[in-house]
Amino acid sequence: MYCTRKIYDDIIWVGADNRRLKLFEAVYNVPRGISYNSYLILDEKTALIDTADRAVTDTFIENVEHTLGGRALDYLVVQHMEPDHSATLLDVLLRHPECTVVCNKMTLDMIKAFKGTEVKALTVKEGDVLDLGKHKLTFVSAPMVHWPEVMVTFDTATGTLFSADAFGTFGALNGALFADEVDFDRDYLDEARRYYCNIVGKYGMQVEKLLGKASALDIKMICPLHGFVWRENIDYYVNKYVHWAGYKPEEQGVVIAYASVYGNTENAANVLACRLLEMGIKCVMHDVSVSEHSAIIADCFKCSHLVFASMTYNGGVFVNMENLLRDLAAHALKGRKIALIESGSWALTAGKGMREILSSLKDTEFISDDISFKSSLGAEGEELIDKLAHRIKESI
Ligand SMILES: Cc1cc2nc3c(=O)[nH]c(=O)nc-3n(C[C@H](O)[C@H](O)[C@H](O)COP(=O)(O)O)c2cc1C
Ligand SMILES: [Fe+2]
Ligand SMILES: [Fe+2]
Repeated sequence: MYCTRKIYDDIIWVGADNRRLKLFEAVYNVPRGISYNSYLILDEKTALIDTADRAVTDTFIENVEHTLGGRALDYLVVQHMEPDHSATLLDVLLRHPECTVVCNKMTLDMIKAFKGTEVKALTVKEGDVLDLGKHKLTFVSAPMVHWPEVMVTFDTATGTLFSADAFGTFGALNGALFADEVDFDRDYLDEARRYYCNIVGKYGMQVEKLLGKASALDIKMICPLHGFVWRENIDYYVNKYVHWAGYKPEEQGVVIAYASVYGNTENAANVLACRLLEMGIKCVMHDVSVSEHSAIIADCFKCSHLVFASMTYNGGVFVNMENLLRDLAAHALKGRKIALIESGSWALTAGKGMREILSSLKDTEFISDDISFKSSLGAEGEELIDKLAHRIKESI
């Protein structure tokens, strides 16, 4: 049975939810599922904007066929060749040999490489117009938001921006299609931030370029490939993107992420959190062996100050902390104030190891000397933690 929703009478969402996926991109937990959006425009010519993931093939194809209602599919616009949006490309083309793929040159090469076959294609570049009748689609290139070949599509007739992976979120749609049908700020913003930071967070500069190009368009609606369609309060979400793309913290607050096997390093992290809260400073704590790393990374994008505390482990940084910090460095976060705490019982090296990894972050300030303590915090260590709390307060 098909399951579709109307955006306009002639623009229909034909995507699908997947609530069974354990790991998106084989690494990100998606406990609330994910949607794969695809949009079908029914004009004098028909055009499908992207396809969907292999896991939702049946529903997706049924949605497309029902919505076409026996009409030919004239165009399939491929904005991005990542398989979560293109796995079912040949499933569509086999049913619609009349269809012309509309994409840029790099995408066309990727279609050949992924699918091992040529397709009937119209290659377009930035500024080209595809005239469907009432709807006129123009293309805007958005390299590295999230792959190099990405282009987004703007319908000048309705002011609709089909934004590819930009402006997406984790989470199934659950019957809602528009962001204004849910309490987005309360229920989805954290997941949207986790999606942004981890999926495109590394490419802030390229996202800023796209935001610059988008600001020249009269956008009335944003249709991303995952998550909700935005038709109200678009500036709210665009402003979030401005913050995230510029690596600007949304809050003055502290992320305390710690790695502790037997609880002593955790104790130091707890003492710091108590001192900060007593001074009215917001903080969020993560055990790096328990929290989803993508959620810690999202909090690091959100907050101004980061404290990492690790026990020394086989002559280095505890493995889960090392993984987290390398992941953070790979996401190119910048402009944060950082402090480090190390523990160990005989040869303490965790602080040096953490500093080495984090030194690749740009515009980063280490706001204090690393705190170092042996085995348990003790009175001296407690004093150092107290000093660090005051140092953080001064630097906020
Ligand atoms: C598997 C393992 C390896 C360790 N390797 C080191 C090490 O190389 N150097 C060191 O000084 N301490 C090492 N330690 C000791 C811990 O770093 C130290 O006892 C620390 O205070 C434990 O902190 P925790 O209670 O937060 O787990 C190791 C401990 C474990 C369990
Ligand atoms: Fe993607
Ligand atoms: Fe995607």
